[in-house]
Amino acid sequence: MTNFKRGLALALTLTALIFSGCNKQKEESATAAAAPVTNLDEIVIGAVFPMTGPIATYGQESVNGINLALKSLNETGVKGKKIRIVVQDNKGEPVESANAVRKLIEVDKVQAIIGSVASSNTLAGAPIAQQSGVPLMTPASTNETVTQTGDYISRSCFTDAFQGVVMAKFAYETLGKKKAVIIIDNSSDYSRGLASVFRAKFTEMGGQVVSNDNDTTYTQKDTDFRSLLQKVKRADPDVIFLPGYYTEVGLMIKQARSMGMNMPFLGGDGWDSPKLQELAGEAINGNYISSHFSSEDSDPRVQQFVSEYEKAYGQKPGAMAALGYDGILVMADAIMRANSFSHADIRDAINSTKNYIGITGNITIDENRNAKKSAVVLETTVSGMKFKQKVNP
Ligand code: PHE
Repeated sequence: MTNFKRGLALALTLTALIFSGCNKQKEESATAAAAPVTNLDEIVIGAVFPMTGPIATYGQESVNGINLALKSLNETGVKGKKIRIVVQDNKGEPVESANAVRKLIEVDKVQAIIGSVASSNTLAGAPIAQQSGVPLMTPASTNETVTQTGDYISRSCFTDAFQGVVMAKFAYETLGKKKAVIIIDNSSDYSRGLASVFRAKFTEMGGQVVSNDNDTTYTQKDTDFRSLLQKVKRADPDVIFLPGYYTEVGLMIKQARSMGMNMPFLGGDGWDSPKLQELAGEAINGNYISSHFSSEDSDPRVQQFVSEYEKAYGQKPGAMAALGYDGILVMADAIMRANSFSHADIRDAINSTKNYIGITGNITIDENRNAKKSAVVLETTVSGMKFKQKVNP
């Protein structure tokens, strides 16, 4: 090789090195802009929850559960660092949820996000987390499509494909009901999805659904359901499936009973709120829901959680308290196992969660980033939710 050629080769190698060095620096600073990967002072996790508005108990219970978990977790920390949550109130609204996710990523530079609860809210925020490459794990959104947003989106709860089947079987087999009406909250992806799973299973077993999904609907914030209920009453069902959220459910059941409709109403986890009994009064007796957790579970770990929660907040924990508690612990466990604090490493660690023993069940995140877990059927009564059965997936 001539000196010239040698010089050229060296120059090319150097240029290549410099360029690859530049690229590398660019990549690193792109990640660094979103979140520092090393030398963290603390681990910052964004928490998107409805703290106000018609589904506010979901957010309040979640944050209570998360704070209870963090109290003991932060005594030792995760990899020697404390976890700090930044709570962002989405008011139960999709647009607010999207804004909250963006703010947590861009302003607070969070390592990961936990939230939200109502599936339509999580569905609105998830695409932003996915595009930004920031892991988002919902502890509670059960609509099938939530985790289909992409590989950064996961959940630590079961899905409606499971809970809808649990309630269809409970209606048909346990209660022996044959003729159902389904009432749908048209503003909720959760309600529409769960309704269609129930319909498919109930009819497959031999039951009859005598309502049309476009006909027996309402929307969130409605307060007078009497003309809808009149229509339902005329169809003369022996059971009503109502996959809604507690505020409208509480009012609707009260109105139904006052109209002489005494058949059982069945619902899903959306009924699980300390406010339900308050809204419906005596009318809440004799109805049933599927949910994630029962405070009557005799498992000593559950009972310890129940007593710690009651001591801290003066109230028995509902499903959302337990899901928030488990959710943050699953996330902390993942961060502990992750190769670094980078978003991609935290995502990989969350998605490979196996056999995490939570108080809402045994959590394994499957290849679709959903958790396969047991459900419980609860009877709603004025004095609280009574445990009926546990159903394994
Ligand atoms: N599963 C509900 C949804 O996806 C949210 C919810 C979970 C509400 C648990 C209460 C308790 O919309």
